[in-house]
Amino acid sequence: MLEKECFCKELGVIPRDVIQGIPKDLPTFASMANFYAAKQFISYFAKARTVYNTHSPFLYALTQKVLEDDRHFYAFDELEALRQKMLNVETQMEFVDFGAGSRDLGKKTTRKIKEVAATSLISPLKAKWMFRLVDFLKPDTILEIGTSLGLSALYMQAAARNAQVVTLEGNPDSARVAQKNFSIFPYARNIKVEIGRFEDTLEPALQQLRKADFIFMDGNHRKTPTLAYFEQMRPFLSEKSVIILDDIYWSEGMTEAWNLLRNDAQVSLSVDLFHFGILFFRKENREKEHHVLAPSKWKPWVRAW
Ligand SMILES: C[S@@+](CC[C@H](N)C(=O)[O-])C[C@H]1O[C@@H](n2cnc3c(N)ncnc32)[C@H](O)[C@@H]1O
Repeated sequence: MLEKECFCKELGVIPRDVIQGIPKDLPTFASMANFYAAKQFISYFAKARTVYNTHSPFLYALTQKVLEDDRHFYAFDELEALRQKMLNVETQMEFVDFGAGSRDLGKKTTRKIKEVAATSLISPLKAKWMFRLVDFLKPDTILEIGTSLGLSALYMQAAARNAQVVTLEGNPDSARVAQKNFSIFPYARNIKVEIGRFEDTLEPALQQLRKADFIFMDGNHRKTPTLAYFEQMRPFLSEKSVIILDDIYWSEGMTEAWNLLRNDAQVSLSVDLFHFGILFFRKENREKEHHVLAPSKWKPWVRAW
């Protein structure tokens, strides 16, 4: 379909040269989690604006720094090399399935590290966005809900080396691999992994950090727990806080949670990047705003005028 001229009701006719120039990191339908996500991507893509039509200074800076910045950091090579290494590790680990919608919910199984690395970790594109987001926002504290083998925590700490990072994981074996990974990088040796169900570890972690500047919610992708975790975080949120929700189009439940949270009275600005939903609590935004954004290279026919 991509080689031909393409017609879509919401997008209109896209010229052939534009389709041929489609960037490699544009999500392909094969890479989508499921049919629901693929369908949602079409409507996200039709709505998405780029740096060429973002007007507020904050949003323009965010789009420039996170979606447009093509600088390559040494940390990307180091951390992608770690991913590749994990993708080859045959060692078995015990795995408790907390997966959203999984039939094996709560069941103990064994999995190879390479299988967990292939299925649970942040993708290279999202990892770079996450790194740039942290670099742009410069949080003092970072809380991650869902460590797995520690890759996204490493990306976040690499971008803010003085930030205090706490990450939560229910699988003891995953947490152990993550801790080993953190010990490889001098800047990551202070990352704290709290082992246990989020239901038990979230509150103490918030008490430990005392304030929540940057929260990455990347575990238990279901509506009710997502909303419950947000309620637990509420007393710790400030004007500086940012919450990143992973995979808001993973399921109808996650999209419902996203829509409820972005409409929460405390949220002043929300940004839909398809892979992530971002919630801001900035007082500068007096009127609630919601924006759907994409990198300009995904929509090369949209230009400044
Ligand atoms: C998608 S993975 C996290 C990936 C990680 N952020 C990265 O990109 O490198 C989600 C993790 O959350 C954990 N998890 C899910 N639900 C949980 C719960 N209720 N309590 C504790 N851990 C949970 C899973 O064991 C899994 O390792």
